Amino acid sequence: MQEIQTAAELRAWSRSTRASGATVGLVPTMGALHEGHLSLVRAARQRGDRVATSIFVNPTQFGPNEDFARYPRTFAADCALLEAEGVEVVFAPAVEEIYQPGASTFVEVKGLSQRLDGASRPGHFRGVATVVAKLFAAAEPERAYFGQKDAAQVAVLRRMVADLLLPMELVVCPIVREADGLAMSSRNRYLSAEERAESLALSRAVRAGEAAFARGQRSAESIRSAARHELERSPAVRADYVALVDWATLLPVETAAAGHLLAVAAWVGTTRLIDNCILGN
Ligand code: PAJ
Repeated sequence: MQEIQTAAELRAWSRSTRASGATVGLVPTMGALHEGHLSLVRAARQRGDRVATSIFVNPTQFGPNEDFARYPRTFAADCALLEAEGVEVVFAPAVEEIYQPGASTFVEVKGLSQRLDGASRPGHFRGVATVVAKLFAAAEPERAYFGQKDAAQVAVLRRMVADLLLPMELVVCPIVREADGLAMSSRNRYLSAEERAESLALSRAVRAGEAAFARGQRSAESIRSAARHELERSPAVRADYVALVDWATLLPVETAAAGHLLAVAAWVGTTRLIDNCILGN
């Protein structure tokens, strides 16, 4: 596996890969890799892509009071995992490579970026869209792989790819969970043993909403309140949002239908976790 630090070298690898008749699959991450990330790599390999994984803790998507400084950085272990999955390139640029001195161009997906996590984390999706656009520009992939775990991120990036006429496909992969249901996340390592137990409220909330829909409930409020009820049963969990939205626009719906996104975000201690499901899936 090749370790690359500059956009120019990544682009050169991508172009020579394509010249050899292969396709390039990009898996953007912030590292601290787990099975959720590796599922994206496997999906790319299954599609026949040669895979580049980026590991970059992107400062612009963190708010001033968020966890940028203490975000887990486990580069050596990450590389071992990627190598074992047959990844060809790990792209791990310095912050100054991605944000050159004087950098003043940002990608703003208006509207969508202010919804769900964007409402609670002002500027977050602007940072995400900006860094992902830069990664796409550097890697020129045929396909890029993202997890449904970050469903609002997917909506923002789908819009960006369409709006910027990017000649690539965005592939969305299912949520990978721990055996007890907790959606895998790099931030799960922040949780104390007690918080880890309480964090199951999120997946229970999503399942409760899903079950209400499966029983025939169609009012958005009844589905949201089934989910909210599960969050409220755990005193250590503080709900941020419980939303039923159209996945493309992230706008709330009144009547639930298959394909709608039920998304929850909640604080467990000082850790903010998210989870979701697509109704009728
Ligand atoms: P990160 O949180 O490291 O996640 C990288 C990718 O892994 C994202 O597409 C995310 O949705 C996916 N992922 C995380 N947990 C998952 C799980 N349990 N199941 C399936 N997929 C999962 O998302 C980011 O980084 C950043 O915002 C990034 C896109 C890299 C831009 O900086």
